[in-house]
Amino acid sequence: MKIAFFDSGIGGLSVLHHAMKILPNDEFIFFADEDNVPYGTKTREQVLSYVDAAFKFLTAQNVGAIVVACNTATSVAVRPMREKYSLPIIGMEPAVKVALDLYPQKKVLVTATEITIRGEKIQRLITRLNAKNFAYLRALPKLVNFAERQEFNSDAVEKYLRDEFAAYDFKNFSSIVLGCTHFNYFKDTMRKILPAHMKILDGNAGTLNQLVRLANLQVGEGKKNPPVEYFYSGRRVTAREELARLENYLRRLDEMELI
Ligand code: DGL
Repeated sequence: MKIAFFDSGIGGLSVLHHAMKILPNDEFIFFADEDNVPYGTKTREQVLSYVDAAFKFLTAQNVGAIVVACNTATSVAVRPMREKYSLPIIGMEPAVKVALDLYPQKKVLVTATEITIRGEKIQRLITRLNAKNFAYLRALPKLVNFAERQEFNSDAVEKYLRDEFAAYDFKNFSSIVLGCTHFNYFKDTMRKILPAHMKILDGNAGTLNQLVRLANLQVGEGKKNPPVEYFYSGRRVTAREELARLENYLRRLDEMELI
């Protein structure tokens, strides 16, 4: 089956990267809305219109399922897209449940974009999990910009994260949840700064489990060079330097997977 992965930018590659390793029989489209990234600092109306345009494009590409590999787009637009289209649409959910299942009664730092943090969807999740006293929310918008310009582990990234984390005494925390797919590129810096007991959790495995279930896919060992078509906001990426840029992200994700 041809499966589309959609994100505001290159964050969604972290979900595709995982999919390529476990889905040997499928083909992939990756759509990064590079004309409009970042989404997290825009209005909900703007994000909805970007997602609407992306879905118009993707549903014309003969895909069997669309993975919204973006927490922000999921938070704003997954419901209306499901009302509009009948193919399986799989969204992201910050891995708060995973954290609380593994470590009940421990606090969790949930990081995401501003829209996701301010949105109703995350509040509903916290209420459903009875996690009001455990989930601490923090927007880390600058990580999206750092990721888009391939600035992964500079002094500026480290200082930004140290400053943002300074507000917490992590003694009673079990984990940090990466509630934005762009944040996966910074696991090494987070590992360096956070106390050793802090787990770093993302929602990628949960999203792919849902994809496998809803699209009825077969899991196995992924191909070495799986077929992927890349698009920036609907334009096919063919330029050598842009393909090299995308490969660089995938290499970075290989490294982050080991952390
Ligand atoms: N990658 C996106 C997410 O998972 C959003 C980043 C952005 O465009 O602000 O939330």
